[in-house]
Amino acid sequence: MSGPRLGVNIDHVATIRNARGGGTPDPVRAALLSEQAGADGITAHLREDRRHIGDADIDGLMAALTVPLNFEMAATLEMQGIALRHKPHAACLVPEKREERTTEGGLGVVQDERRLAEFITPLREAGCRVSLFIEADPQQIEASARIGAPVIELHTGTFAEAHNAGNVERRAYEFERLAEGVRVATAAGLEVHLGHGLDFDTARMVSAIPDIAELNIGHFLIGESVFIGLEEAIRRMRTAIDEGYAEGRAAA
Ligand code: PXP
Repeated sequence: MSGPRLGVNIDHVATIRNARGGGTPDPVRAALLSEQAGADGITAHLREDRRHIGDADIDGLMAALTVPLNFEMAATLEMQGIALRHKPHAACLVPEKREERTTEGGLGVVQDERRLAEFITPLREAGCRVSLFIEADPQQIEASARIGAPVIELHTGTFAEAHNAGNVERRAYEFERLAEGVRVATAAGLEVHLGHGLDFDTARMVSAIPDIAELNIGHFLIGESVFIGLEEAIRRMRTAIDEGYAEGRAAA
């Protein structure tokens, strides 16, 4: 029984490369290895400050990948131009702040509804599957559906943090918030992805929620590959996702 698709985020291969300023490790090589190990897609976030993935990495990924590229981007005209030039399979809009270490919180779709509606139109017309990275907040979910985004990605960061802190009550609360978000989104006709901060345990848990199409996972997999190799980390993640999915089906 096969669970949600697994998108592997290779940003932090570029983080390690950039720490030395040379060409290794190469994120495109990591992406191709991820494909071989069973990744259903590759995610890369071209940040405004190019702190990890660079423009040449996106060129390389577009040329080499046989699985879909999910291009993570801020809702800026520069990034829109790059996405329209490459036409990746998917464009995932994320909030971006220079001072943050990783994407904090979700996009404020309610607060920026009219601008985002206009912003995603050319991307959709170019054939990119637009996804909005948001908190599992019914108002944000409904606004995403209103502006015509076909996909949302719900932020799993607070759920993962609660698990890592051993806070079982908080984890149960965050799990239910995600599950309810998925129900609201599915009822509104949206495809639902999940991502941020997931490891083997938390990916397994959220895969039990019905109607999840995709999980996007990066930091943990790249870190784990130091110990067990990238292919093995991806294989184990695939197994965790499939087991969680099967458990969810059995419990339904
Ligand atoms: N999904 C989105 C939209 C993200 O911004 C990120 C982090 O770049 C991820 C998934 C992956 O998160 P992590 O690296 O914590 O697995």
